[in-house]
Amino acid sequence: MNVLFIGDIVGSVGRTAVKKVLPALQSKYNPHIIIANGENAAAGRGITAAIVKELLDAGVHGITMGNHTWDNKDIFEWIDDQPRIVRPANYVEGVPGQGATIIKANGKELAIVNLQGRTFLPPIDCPFRKADELIEQLQQKTKNILVDFHAEATSEKIAMGWYLDGRASIVVGTHTHVQTNDDTILPLGTAFLTDVGMVGPKNGVLGMDRDVVLHRFLTQMPTRFVVDEGDWHFHAIVVDIDDATGKARKIQKVRLTETDWLLM
Ligand SMILES: [Fe+2]
Ligand SMILES: [Fe+2]
Repeated sequence: MNVLFIGDIVGSVGRTAVKKVLPALQSKYNPHIIIANGENAAAGRGITAAIVKELLDAGVHGITMGNHTWDNKDIFEWIDDQPRIVRPANYVEGVPGQGATIIKANGKELAIVNLQGRTFLPPIDCPFRKADELIEQLQQKTKNILVDFHAEATSEKIAMGWYLDGRASIVVGTHTHVQTNDDTILPLGTAFLTDVGMVGPKNGVLGMDRDVVLHRFLTQMPTRFVVDEGDWHFHAIVVDIDDATGKARKIQKVRLTETDWLLM
């Protein structure tokens, strides 16, 4: 089975990029299941019900989130009714939403798990122990498991890759918005990449308007970040999983600019 996982989609520029690129990627890689991180999809902050629909209509089958999950307060009204979205599973007991689910599409099924790191991020429950708990439960139902580990520190993400090697088919990092170059299949069959990178404005700072970000760095004054406009770039991975065993066979990074796409 081929799985396409798309990194943090930032704002309307990122959503436009997804809609433009997906048809070409579908014919090139033949993904059975497409998952995307949507924590920045609504103007850089969280996601709305309308944007969930927009992404699902574009061909995405499941959405993962991160530290921006609650930025749009209307999410509390619908997250429990939307089966295709997961928020970090290691949020404390009792918060709305789900941390894992099974996505079915094109005759295949893939469990998706969202976890959030604790290094340079709010100190929530342990992502490693939560991963143990969820993977044990999910393995009763499917061998094919994707973990989106939304974390800041490269060390924490790499540690999670080793921790879940052989237990998850894919462990991929999100949150830092810059694609790393360490894609690998770990010894026990887990496809791993420290960070998949973002989808959205290319000429800002992690998708945000660079002048506003620079103003904060130069003055240390509080500023409200806004999503940059202009050209986009698109980052994702495609993983081939042997669905009989749940082991990954191949991982490929996808990195495209708007110009690359025009030439496709
Ligand atoms: Fe993000
Ligand atoms: Fe994030």
